[in-house]
Amino acid sequence: MKILAIETSCDETAVAVVEGGRKILSSQIASQIEMHRLYGGVVPELASRSHMAFVSQLCDQALAEASLTKKDIEAVAVTYAPGLIGALLVGMNFGKALAYGLQVPLIPVHHVRGHIASNYLSHPQLKPPFLCLCVSGGTTAWVKVEEYTQMSLLGGTRDDAVGECFDKVARVLGIGYPGGKPLDDLAQGGNPQAYALPRGKVDGAPLDMSFSGLKTASVNLIHNAEQKGESLCLPDFAASFSQAVCDSLLSRLALALENTGLKQVAVAGGVSANRQLRGEMEAYCQKNGCDLFLPQLSLCGDNAAMIGAQAFYEYQQGHCGDWDLNAYATRAVSQSYGE
Ligand code: KG4
Repeated sequence: MKILAIETSCDETAVAVVEGGRKILSSQIASQIEMHRLYGGVVPELASRSHMAFVSQLCDQALAEASLTKKDIEAVAVTYAPGLIGALLVGMNFGKALAYGLQVPLIPVHHVRGHIASNYLSHPQLKPPFLCLCVSGGTTAWVKVEEYTQMSLLGGTRDDAVGECFDKVARVLGIGYPGGKPLDDLAQGGNPQAYALPRGKVDGAPLDMSFSGLKTASVNLIHNAEQKGESLCLPDFAASFSQAVCDSLLSRLALALENTGLKQVAVAGGVSANRQLRGEMEAYCQKNGCDLFLPQLSLCGDNAAMIGAQAFYEYQQGHCGDWDLNAYATRAVSQSYGE
């Protein structure tokens, strides 16, 4: 089944064609990063306008790259939640019109379920059940993927997402936007013990997480150094920050595995590109006899191929959208469309 998928939940306009949930026939992404960089973060109205300007053209490009015409498309998938509401509405309405015009099913896909599905594209052998650590700019969560479309939230951040924390700290350091990659680069070769930074805990909820304390402590450390005229050793600071993030995540991995009895672990979302996180997850899984699945680097960030992959499984469960489908800024990953 060939599905044309559209992703416009934040600052990437993306269109892809995916076959059978596992094979990418084409994947087009127009990043808006340069436009938002000027403001140090995503400006929602500009994001929506840019999605409008590019979505149609990207759709044509995705079909051309796959050597297909619209008549070959058997379903249209759209990200309908969570994300910036104006941005979601652009892709969703474009997809709705396309599906209506072609008289093919419309499949609404949850963005985080899409990130999880990026692993199906990278690893043909991966099948549920597995544990997935979802780490992106908007989400930080431990998800038990029981079936392709049946999942439960084991724990999540109570405040900031990990990616948000990377971005904020990098912005205060003035090293670029989005901040995850520049901080990751800086951390290479730095001393992770050089600066003392907190690891958040949530009383009575051991799988829940908190990153606002780490964010505030990092920002205060940078400002204090500035005020005293001291210079921070940037590689050491970046390595200490990355270590604090990884400790916060890895310290919950054993418990999540123990609680679920699972032996397969996946990571998903933009922060899954982080070198230290990938390395530490690999070391842990090797030592403890678990199979680890990491998305290939090109599928860690937002893309439409992952939406097309998840859509295949949603379709098989009959999770198709009506013509009055709406977009939602927030929605639980455990909630299927129509529930
Ligand atoms: O999944 P994504 O592209 O968008 C959302 O769905 O949120 O994730 C973007 C986030 C940003 O916060 C970015 O700084 C972070 O992923 N990121 C990284 C790395 N590459 C991207 N964080 C840490 N290390 C990286 N190498």
